[in-house]
Amino acid sequence: MTTTRRLTGFKPTGHLHLGNLLGALRPLIAAQAATESIALIADLHALTLEHDPERVRAHTLEQATVMLAAGVDPERTPIVVQSHVPEHTGLHYLLECVTGFGEAARMIQFKEKSAGRGHVRLSLLTYPVLMAADILLYDIQQVPVGEDQNQHLELARTIATRFNGRYGETFTVPEGVRPDSAARVMDLADPTAKMGKSQGTGQIGLLDPPQTVRRTIARAVTDELAVVRRDRERQPGVTNLIDILAECTGREPSDPYSYGALKREAADAVEALLTPIRKRHAEFAADPAHVRKILADGAARIRPRAQATVRRTRAALGLLD
Ligand code: TRP
Repeated sequence: MTTTRRLTGFKPTGHLHLGNLLGALRPLIAAQAATESIALIADLHALTLEHDPERVRAHTLEQATVMLAAGVDPERTPIVVQSHVPEHTGLHYLLECVTGFGEAARMIQFKEKSAGRGHVRLSLLTYPVLMAADILLYDIQQVPVGEDQNQHLELARTIATRFNGRYGETFTVPEGVRPDSAARVMDLADPTAKMGKSQGTGQIGLLDPPQTVRRTIARAVTDELAVVRRDRERQPGVTNLIDILAECTGREPSDPYSYGALKREAADAVEALLTPIRKRHAEFAADPAHVRKILADGAARIRPRAQATVRRTRAALGLLD
């Protein structure tokens, strides 16, 4: 029996946070035995908006280190830095030749991120084509995606299907999967927005010190209703805290009336989850050469498949070998 091939992508534009852990990393770790997964750190995607070179480099290494600390087993799940496998950009160009300008320009994220900017990098427009290359290179069947990446995944499917139709069976058409848990962690300071890497004060970084974590949760926005219940519409903050507690412990809040107690329980639960990750992170971070070796091994291990895909694609398109 062959196992399902999955790819989970992360963009090194900031510190990984609780939303990444519960929504992406934990599902990846839980599925490690049953699927053939790749954890991709999409560093080239971090260059599509104004960026600080030193930060991109630091976040790339930090994200890899945090993945190891959280329990990604690099023997089972290669952790790969996108730019270490040049076939990503090689396939990108070939896929651009079957993608319409209008298709790329229609992407909601492109429109949002380019709006009101003087200088828009061309790579911001072509970003979803690079993302399609990330997926199609490895014959991926399943891609866990949040809502914000749905449209990009659809484009990857369109590109694969179109290519296969015009130039012959070349790519596996990937499917989007929702992470098993309903985990969608919202920002604690603005519980109507998803927890993100770079906005505001309501994120919990996986490497934040305990007192910061506790302070962020203690200051979480709630409401005046004084009842602990799930009601995303009317009580988004309280609902988020209940969900975080449930995700971390599998249990519901014990006191249905006190927001103080809810916050304490949620903070304890998050701390119980983060303490061992911080500790293991410190161990891995003490030996960056070891982490880099793991990344080099991961890239070397998956590269033959990427090379085979590019060879197949070149041949289908009529390039002389
Ligand atoms: N674009 C994704 C994001 O911003 C990251 C990503 C890059 C990705 N390549 C991918 C996700 C391939 C899934 C598959 O979060």
